Amino acid sequence: MKGIILAGGAGTRLYPLTKAISKQMLPIYDKPMIYYPLATLMQSGIRDILVISTPRDIGSYKKLLGNGNRLGISISYEVQNEPKGIADAFIVGRDFIGSSSVALILGDNVFYGEKMDNVLQRSVKTEDGATVFGYYVEEPSSYGVVEFDEEHRVVSIEEKPSYPKSNYAVPGLYFYDNEVVDIALNIKPSHRNELEITDVNKVYMEKEKLKVEILNEGISWFDTGTYHGLLDAANFVETIQKQQRIYIACIEEIAYKKRYIDKEQLLELANSMIKTEYGQYLRYIIER
Ligand code: TTP
Repeated sequence: MKGIILAGGAGTRLYPLTKAISKQMLPIYDKPMIYYPLATLMQSGIRDILVISTPRDIGSYKKLLGNGNRLGISISYEVQNEPKGIADAFIVGRDFIGSSSVALILGDNVFYGEKMDNVLQRSVKTEDGATVFGYYVEEPSSYGVVEFDEEHRVVSIEEKPSYPKSNYAVPGLYFYDNEVVDIALNIKPSHRNELEITDVNKVYMEKEKLKVEILNEGISWFDTGTYHGLLDAANFVETIQKQQRIYIACIEEIAYKKRYIDKEQLLELANSMIKTEYGQYLRYIIER
């Protein structure tokens, strides 16, 4: 399976923070936001990754992440000229996807939890149909909302409904078979003139090929596209890292643990930022 990180968009809910720089470049505590979705894809075992961003920002991502070599993965880049919607990722990325299955993660979504590994290992096996997630929230109206029956079969899925049929929001992480490209090419833009990911998911639902996994106990999800989300996520990361001595979204550590890079390579990465607690943490992993 291949992976796409969608890191474009307008970021208007974070103005003026995002007037001159890309949202997914903003810090969440000690790392740029895009490290978090990148870490999630790497945790899934995905090594071939496409970053999509705006004509203005794509250069910054190339500078930050390069070709992925230092992490033992491959990172390539495509430009989305206008924010035409989340499902446009499959059109912009169709050459990259080729005949593969594909995971899509939004560049402003942060997931964390011990059980997340298991969830990802299962989802990455999606070869036929689609897997999305459900996360309980008090105010689901600003998200895609999924309703499901006792056997977790999806009954309805709606984008930003005024009267939500459940409290389960659909986070920005989706796993699809290769048909997603054709589906994205055939849906029509919505009233807000975007290709909606919910419309793609509806096609899978109608074919009875949409699976929903509930992210519950022990898993945290943050949509960091608002001031509150951004600060909540940063505070959360700081607390876990300080209290538990576990780093969240440490892409170098994931690469090492997955054996994409060896000790020497990790040491080199650690030494390149040894003045920071981050660099010292990498040294600690090697030495412990
Ligand atoms: P949103 O947060 O829905 O949109 P946005 O980033 O443009 O922000 P705002 O609503 O504040 O103006 O997008 C979710 C994620 O998807 C975010 O990481 C940006 C990305 N995205 C794109 O890259 N291209 C798009 O066309 C859209 C709609 C979103």
